[in-house]
Amino acid sequence: MSETVVPYGKEKGSKRQQVEEMFDNISHKYDFLNHFLSLGIDVIWRKKSLKKINNKAPEKILDVATGTGDFAIAAKKKYSKAEVVGIDISNGMLEVGREKIKKKGIEQVQLVNADSAEIPYADNTFDVAIVAFGVRNFENLLAGLTEMNRVLKPNGEIVVLEFSKPKAFPFKQIYNFYFTHILPRFGKLISKDNAAYTYLPESVKAFPEGPQFLEILAQAGFSDNKAKPLTFGISSIYHGTKK
Ligand SMILES: C[S@@+](CC[C@H](N)C(=O)[O-])C[C@H]1O[C@@H](n2cnc3c(N)ncnc32)[C@H](O)[C@@H]1O
Repeated sequence: MSETVVPYGKEKGSKRQQVEEMFDNISHKYDFLNHFLSLGIDVIWRKKSLKKINNKAPEKILDVATGTGDFAIAAKKKYSKAEVVGIDISNGMLEVGREKIKKKGIEQVQLVNADSAEIPYADNTFDVAIVAFGVRNFENLLAGLTEMNRVLKPNGEIVVLEFSKPKAFPFKQIYNFYFTHILPRFGKLISKDNAAYTYLPESVKAFPEGPQFLEILAQAGFSDNKAKPLTFGISSIYHGTKK
């Protein structure tokens, strides 16, 4: 169902085309809006997600839907010896990411234009595959996760960080108000994209979470799959292993 939620309307092209266009449009404001609208919690969530990785010294890490590269950079900070590759379909986001990596003087983090549905690496290449706030945007969720499974080595790990929905009163009500009324207004004002920050709550609403997402991870070939809700359930971390 989440695969039918698109930013600009059904008649405006495929989900992949619309998502690419949307992220190209907001790429220069993305980092600012991300940290501002999440009050900086996104940085903590990415760090917590990396803590789920069991491998103490992964040599090759793939960050899918890397955007401006924040998750790839966080992974490189944690595993200084690892080679990190980030892939994304938006050249706009990748360009901002490459500039950031250059400015910070980070080496061995490479950002490449590629789609999750067709990852341009051989089977059994990576020790770890990670994705933050990306899977919700895939045109074909199962295809993307299956590709991530294919390029992982046996015993390779996947870590997915994605929005979910808080359940408990009164946090659920406060959060829903913020997410559907406040956030889209600020998002539109700052990004100048009319749809991006209404697409965000709509796509989160339609996205499978918890046990439902674990079921899809299993279908994609992962085992020992676990979910951990963060911050009252606003986000969740999923971890699985390729057997
Ligand atoms: C919300 S951003 C997340 C960026 C980054 N991972 C982060 O944590 O900030 C989502 C990204 O997913 C990318 N994306 C969407 N569908 C994709 C696909 N099928 N393959 C690769 N990247 C995709 C978009 O271009 C966008 O840059």
